[in-house]
Amino acid sequence: MKVDRIHLVLGLLWLITGMALGEHMGRTQDHGQMPTHSHIMLVGGVLPVLWAILNRDWKMGSGLLAWAQLGLHHAGAAIMIVALYKLYGGGDIVTLGPALGVSAVLVILATVLMLFLAVRARPAAT
Ligand code: HEM
Ligand code: HEM
Repeated sequence: MKVDRIHLVLGLLWLITGMALGEHMGRTQDHGQMPTHSHIMLVGGVLPVLWAILNRDWKMGSGLLAWAQLGLHHAGAAIMIVALYKLYGGGDIVTLGPALGVSAVLVILATVLMLFLAVRARPAAT
């Protein structure tokens, strides 16, 4: 599979996961996991779908940097989501803080790499 399709598939899987959590929150009227839901939807789901479209339309390719961007984003998103789920499930911020910090750095690095790829890219002709 290519970088854009992996972003798209993983993003859609996170969207379905986040919707299921949102449905659970609505049904139980327990909104305690709202930040987890928000970041599943937006960091796990919306951003990768956006990265997939940009990667394809702007021809960012399947080079090493595009694969690194993919890996950094999804590692960061997965760590962030699991840590948020544990935190808002009653976990300890002292234990989970380092994982949240690392996950934030990974997602930020992936976005910086996207900026680099965007500047370097040759977009499709319109
Ligand atoms: C099956 C679909 C969905 C369900 C059942 C659902 C459910 C919920 C629930 C129950 C809340 C908590 C509201 C509150 O406590 O004020 C919430 C908040 C939120 N949802 Fe969803 N949601 C769904 C889809 C989405 C989608 C598609 C997105 C974005 C792509 C999204 C993004 C958010 C955000 C950002 C918040 C936090 C809003 C705030 O800061 O007040 N949700 N959702
Ligand atoms: C490095 C990545 C990120 C970090 C460290 C981060 C951190 C945070 C923190 C600490 C909050 C406050 C939560 C609370 O009040 O309990 C928050 C809320 C929020 N973030 Fe993020 N965020 C990140 C990325 C993003 C991205 C990329 C988006 C959107 C595309 C986003 C959308 C939101 C929204 C809508 C809220 C308010 C809803 C809520 O409280 O659940 N975040 N974020």
